[in-house]
Amino acid sequence: MSEALIAAKQISVRFGGLWAIKDVELQVNSGEILGIIGPNGAGKSTFLNVLSGLQRPSAGHLVIGKEETADPKAWRMAKLGIARSFQTIRLIDDMSVLENVLIGTHLYAVKGFLQVVGRSRSWHQTERQLKEGALETLAWLGVGHKAELPVSMLPLQERRRVEIARALMIRPRVLLLDEPCAGLSQQESLALSNLMSGIRTRGVSIVLVEHNVKLVMALADRVVVLDHGQKIAEGTPTEVAHNETVIQAYLGGEVHA
Ligand SMILES: Nc1ncnc2c1ncn2[C@@H]1O[C@H](COP(=O)(O)OP(=O)(O)OP(=O)(O)O)[C@@H](O)[C@H]1O
Ligand SMILES: [Mg+2]
Repeated sequence: MSEALIAAKQISVRFGGLWAIKDVELQVNSGEILGIIGPNGAGKSTFLNVLSGLQRPSAGHLVIGKEETADPKAWRMAKLGIARSFQTIRLIDDMSVLENVLIGTHLYAVKGFLQVVGRSRSWHQTERQLKEGALETLAWLGVGHKAELPVSMLPLQERRRVEIARALMIRPRVLLLDEPCAGLSQQESLALSNLMSGIRTRGVSIVLVEHNVKLVMALADRVVVLDHGQKIAEGTPTEVAHNETVIQAYLGGEVHA
């Protein structure tokens, strides 16, 4: 069996009287693409917020490697190798593509910051290496030629790639993607799906929240289905597509067909 990078243990999140997540158990394995699907309001984004340390669970805890925490913090999760993109793109519009990606390197830049205070020559070397790394990542994601442009000038599918490039700058072990294909054409979604395969091939596990069920079914090794904050099914894409509870709650006849 493959190694568990993240294990979510009985995670619950309550907003006032609403349980956005209720007792969810879930494991992210090394080298896999785990799809999370479910209707609007099922708790998918809330769950990614917990995994990335942006939402403290009301109950339950996470196990990441040897670490166990009931109160994950974003900086700590990043340090443990968990990076993410957002359902609503979070880039700084009036900064260049390259600058936006370099924001993702702050973890590595701390040492450099200390050195710049002492005006060390090695700071410039660190900065140059970070820039080279960012440009390489952008090129690999097909947007290297846009590095100097303000990010606001890029079309949606390229801004999504910039967000992924920024996440990759911490060299994550797990990449959390919240609806990366929302608003993209079929062709653009397919291109992004190929890119996700490529990221996995480089040894990064992916947790993919996505409404494009066909894309998830084609790409994911395992699929978890959330509904009203609860996990109602888990299995291979084929198992999930034939699960009666899932068909009733979410899929209807669509995927069967
Ligand atoms: N900060 C918050 N405060 C109060 N309620 C919230 C908050 N965030 C989410 N919710 C509620 O929690 C539930 C789960 O929301 P969440 O955004 O996680 O669902 P989702 O599965 O990502 O939905 P979608 O597919 O529409 O993105 C919803 O009922 C939502 O209204
Ligand atoms: Mg969401």
